[in-house]
Amino acid sequence: MNPLFDESVDGFQAVRFDGRRLHLIDQRRLPASETWLSIADVDGVIQAIADLVVRGAPAIGITAAYGAVIAARVRGSDLAGWMDDLARLAAARPTAVNLVWAVERMRKFALEQGELDADALAGEAQRIHRADIEANRAMAQAGSAQIEPGSGVLTHCNTGSLATGGIGTALGVIVAGARSGRIARIYADETRPWLQGSRLTAWELARAGLDFRVIVEGAAAALMASGAVQWVITGADRIAANGDVANKIGTYALAVLARHHGAKMMVVAPGSTLDPSMPDGSGITIEERDPGEIWRAAGIETPPAGHAAWNPVFDVTPAGLVDCIVTENGVFRPPYDFSQTD
Ligand code: MRU
Repeated sequence: MNPLFDESVDGFQAVRFDGRRLHLIDQRRLPASETWLSIADVDGVIQAIADLVVRGAPAIGITAAYGAVIAARVRGSDLAGWMDDLARLAAARPTAVNLVWAVERMRKFALEQGELDADALAGEAQRIHRADIEANRAMAQAGSAQIEPGSGVLTHCNTGSLATGGIGTALGVIVAGARSGRIARIYADETRPWLQGSRLTAWELARAGLDFRVIVEGAAAALMASGAVQWVITGADRIAANGDVANKIGTYALAVLARHHGAKMMVVAPGSTLDPSMPDGSGITIEERDPGEIWRAAGIETPPAGHAAWNPVFDVTPAGLVDCIVTENGVFRPPYDFSQTD
């Protein structure tokens, strides 16, 4: 367990490291079953990230940092072999920059140490984890303070404790906003095809004792037209230097709808999600997953033969549609300039 973690503030600790083994709640099986996987080899960590046992940009960064510790225990003093493990970890999923960021930080730490010391690396991984818990707390406060009392909010995907080290990014803002009485209505998109909203966000909000409604993505326009939503609040997987935001597929559609209906769009993400090397969103690699996920989400065992499906799992929302971006360093507004946080 991470000593900083406080369940009453930080929610549910989905990523746990005991110094040798990584313990992950299997998010593929929630909410039907709370099953834990215990992993002690780097290939197991890579597979857990690729298969969405653990998902959400900050959570996969933290997982990869612990994966680097596990790899170091196996490699001993074989630095070249460890570097190879790091490259494979960093490639487990392409869109969330937090993964590459965490792996790079572990690599730099080892090079500064001048040797592969698994215990010292464990300390660095834990510092990454603790910093994310603290960043979540800061963003929950700063983000919820932007919301006018009595507001309705719509969120997308899952951005809570399951997706981060602590209370979450967008969902942390929503939990804090609901507890402080600013948020009166919470809506969560089901988030096809993997159903992060109806399976994971609903599980977290119910655990937090908050009232909420799940909607299908197709209901978002009608919901906004009804006047029930003042803020769309999402996380991010990578934010380009100009403020373009890569996040779960469907985020862009919500941002367009919000602008059309006079609602505001808030993106909440820690500094580890900022990618200053990416001038704008056009260069961000968008992960495409097995089209079978789409058929399976609809309960279709045998899709029509010879007909394909397209399953991009992220999209890019242009910065111009985002009213504010909240990080642990404060609230940024257009035109976005994150350079003071470098
Ligand atoms: O495919 P996923 O479930 O890993 O996608 C997650 C998201 O898109 C989240 O919105 C994002 O990672 C921010 S999580 C704090």
